[in-house]
Amino acid sequence: MSQNIETVLTEDRSFPPPPEFAEQANVTPEQYQQMWQRAKDDPAGFWGELAKSELDWFKPFTETMSGEMPNTKWFADGQLNACYQCVDRHLTTWRKNKAAIVWEGEPGDTRTLTYQQLHHEVCKFADVLDKLGVQAGDRITLYMPMVPELAVAMLACARVGATHSIIFGGFSADAIADRNNDAQSKLVITADAGWRRGKEIPLKANVDAALDKSPSVEKVVVLRRTGADVTMVPDRDFWWHDLMDKATPDRECTHVDAEHPLFILYTSGSTGKPKGVLHTTGGYMLGATMTTRWVFDLKDEDTYWCTADIGWITGHSYIVYGPLSNGATTVMYEGAPNWPDEGRFWNLVEKYSVNVFYTAPTAIRAFIKWGDQWPEQYDLSSLRLLGTVGEPINPEAWMWYHRVIGGEQCPIVDTWWQTETGGIMLSPLPGVTATKPGSCTTPLPGVVPAIVDEQGNELDANQGGLLVMTQPWPHMLRTLYGDHDRFVDVYFAKFDGKYYFAGDGARRDEEGNYWVMGRVDDVINVSGHRLSTMEVESALVSHEQVAEAAVVGFPHELKGEGICCFVTLKTESDASDEMKAALKQHVRTQIGALATPDQIRFAAAVPKTRSGKIMRRLLRDIAAGRESAGDTTTLEDYTVLAKLREDE
Ligand code: PRX
Repeated sequence: MSQNIETVLTEDRSFPPPPEFAEQANVTPEQYQQMWQRAKDDPAGFWGELAKSELDWFKPFTETMSGEMPNTKWFADGQLNACYQCVDRHLTTWRKNKAAIVWEGEPGDTRTLTYQQLHHEVCKFADVLDKLGVQAGDRITLYMPMVPELAVAMLACARVGATHSIIFGGFSADAIADRNNDAQSKLVITADAGWRRGKEIPLKANVDAALDKSPSVEKVVVLRRTGADVTMVPDRDFWWHDLMDKATPDRECTHVDAEHPLFILYTSGSTGKPKGVLHTTGGYMLGATMTTRWVFDLKDEDTYWCTADIGWITGHSYIVYGPLSNGATTVMYEGAPNWPDEGRFWNLVEKYSVNVFYTAPTAIRAFIKWGDQWPEQYDLSSLRLLGTVGEPINPEAWMWYHRVIGGEQCPIVDTWWQTETGGIMLSPLPGVTATKPGSCTTPLPGVVPAIVDEQGNELDANQGGLLVMTQPWPHMLRTLYGDHDRFVDVYFAKFDGKYYFAGDGARRDEEGNYWVMGRVDDVINVSGHRLSTMEVESALVSHEQVAEAAVVGFPHELKGEGICCFVTLKTESDASDEMKAALKQHVRTQIGALATPDQIRFAAAVPKTRSGKIMRRLLRDIAAGRESAGDTTTLEDYTVLAKLREDE
């Protein structure tokens, strides 16, 4: 990367909070200023007070913050339980019979769980976990559809002190096995299958295949969801309903230390195997609770819907832990946005009278493509606040969201954060911040970012550079599971431990708004999900006919970035359309559907530097159909480049 990143986007439109919104907002401009300054000057005082007032402690903590970044601990001698925070504590209030989860399955079946009903289910499933021999600290894999039982299983894990590792249902058997092995998971909770666009996703069959390669797993719990035929292995596999029939509903919460691991969530890095991002209980719960309240302005009367899958961090923090901790009503939908037709989301907004709606730019681009006639068929007037997450939103998509979905009435919160940050870091506060299409605007209280050059020098306004965090925050990741050295190396080594390095390029404008420009490493952002070019390359090279592969992202109309693979075959004459299809299928089998390549290009060789490094910048230009402006003086063989262009 060149020292400073060139910035080309200029966007002057600005949308101050509508006065009616600002009047009722959870945070006022004065409060924001005061909180932000206080948290910067005295993070321990700021977060310590919030942790005392907003979290329920079995044993109060005496020290808020200890240790230097990256090894900062929060509330370390305190004890609590995330499940108590999300469920039990509401039962002594009027929220006992409030809807906690409003769920709709893809076929149209519905279920609502009040806090009391959720408690009953969670206690029973916690008893099931006990009876299966689960101990505090054990890792449990959840590979489930978007059904209420997924939230029940998460909360039950938290209740007994087990650490959940949720794997998105789109991942393949090999990806499940890798994650099971890395976490040394003892138990897998899955379902027979899940619904997606009217088809059944064979979850149990994928788990069966994964278990051939993940010996740590002793038992499997299977929820009956679609009624699909599955093979049940005696003494290993158990039906959810059989176990629940025998369970008792009075399992108390285990008291865990604030630094007790709550969950591991695997995410892609620029090199090697997926990283097991580990979040702990106290800090994460405080972050999820406060950011939900500040950013989504949640009120008790609100119906709140985050459309993410719980298999990603957005679903963890903003479908389950954040909303439930706030005693909110959180909507959960199982299936695809275009099933049975492209109006499904808007039908749900109307039907449940959704007030706060949080989705991703990739979904917004799909809505735009499907046409305004779909949202126009429904009454969306219940909406009062909109949000986006996952990737930079292009200003025209922002404007469409504002106009067509928000009826020009709803503030839009463009929230920047990461699996590692646990919660939202940069975002407008809807009653405070004037929004600008394409900008995630300003840091939340407790977040002190900077834009620096490669040497760590702070850059001036409007200079593109690297986004870093200069201060620790309670909900930051604590380690990469089983590999603390990698954790230090990936996020902190670049600036000698002084800053958390996010891996994104960004600039700050003269008004202090942040504009994130995307990754600066070999991570591509496909539909708001991170994929490592290395992982896709490894998958390709594991195919017996592939000699070498280089993978880059390219701009993609719907997905944000598409996956372009340059492949050198062992035998050049094997290149054919059938081979392309076979390689796409191979990557899909190795990683999962979301990693399916968009383009395969056969190449006699890929361009490399004299030291043997693949020149990705050049490949990116070729994949995007751009003329390569960059420096090619270190290129090993110029003819390779010319050939790749000819092959387009
Ligand atoms: O590049 C940034 C992009 O998504 C990355 C984090 O990906 P992941 O851990 O999968 O989490 C996604 C959901 C939190 C970031 O490093 N990103 C996320 N949100 C935004 C974004 N880029 C620009 N604007 C955003 N609002």
